[in-house]
Amino acid sequence: MIRFDSDYIEGCIPEILEALQCTNEEQTQGYGIDPHCEHARALIKETIGREDADVHFLVGGTQANITVIDSILKHYQGAVCAESGHINVHETGALEATGHKCLTLPTKDGTITASQVEQLIEDHYNGESVEHTVQPGIVYISFPTESGTLYSKKQLTDLYAVCQKYDIPLFIDGARLGYGLMARTNDVTIQDIANLCDVFYIGGTKVGALFGEAVVITNDKYKKDFRYNIKQRGGMLAKGRMLGIQFEELFTNNRYFTIAKHAIDLSDKLTNALQEKGYAFYFPAMTNQIFPILSNVKMKELAQNFAFESWGKVDDTHTAVRFVISFMTKEEAVDGLISQL
Ligand SMILES: Cc1ncc(COP(=O)(O)O)c(C=O)c1O
Repeated sequence: MIRFDSDYIEGCIPEILEALQCTNEEQTQGYGIDPHCEHARALIKETIGREDADVHFLVGGTQANITVIDSILKHYQGAVCAESGHINVHETGALEATGHKCLTLPTKDGTITASQVEQLIEDHYNGESVEHTVQPGIVYISFPTESGTLYSKKQLTDLYAVCQKYDIPLFIDGARLGYGLMARTNDVTIQDIANLCDVFYIGGTKVGALFGEAVVITNDKYKKDFRYNIKQRGGMLAKGRMLGIQFEELFTNNRYFTIAKHAIDLSDKLTNALQEKGYAFYFPAMTNQIFPILSNVKMKELAQNFAFESWGKVDDTHTAVRFVISFMTKEEAVDGLISQL
């Protein structure tokens, strides 16, 4: 069985395993204040061009999302997001369990627009029930989105302008940030990401690390006491250097970007092959998540040799599926899939 069901099905890049082995007998302080975490923070700040940022290492995506959002929101506020947003559909109500509702916006491709957000905020403050409904307190997006699509620099700039106009922070979930940044059609840099939101995170779990997400807070307003929130949410890893070492390796020699580019190159190969063979796509193919529409017969046939997700029924005889290419996917695996398509 060759797996295309996600980008967290392998371990990590070999440099991380080597670094963990080499540092194994070192003694360091715990909880993310060791020299490896400090070095990784410095590398990230240099890469994003924001020496003023605070960088915190968390273990996973759901934990990063609820820790960030709950640290910012007042208890009567909610998070504005796409109806397909990860916090709304794939986190078991984790955010709601912290007491904050998801205020969802309709979307066809996973993105939300500046004008949708502005309308939601205006509707809230001008509505008759203004104080009887949940106040929009943060805007959450992911880059790439749940549908594997991207925001252009213009869309992101417009969205952030609306957030600033209403003094609502913009939070970017970058669980797959590397793949978004290296996508062929992308015009957003990591420096743009850092400058066009208040908080974001750099996903490691899906992009080369064993586990770990680097939360970057660029707006001073949200920096204070963040570590208390991490600890209270169970995210402060005692052996925090495991995270620091991994991000040191990812942000040495541009590895984070090189390994993401590998996945994007293979994703493009698969996308081109699907196009040549005449398959239609459920969402535009932009990053390392590809959503072709297969006949149910073809889907069953492929499932004998390949693992992938069924994304949704298109009609009685066709289904949209998701193939995900990772930082470690082998070209032979993609070639095998292409030949069976
Ligand atoms: C965009 C996005 N955010 C957050 C997460 C949650 O990550 P985790 O499963 O590590 O909690 C995922 C996982 O698939 C994701 O795709």
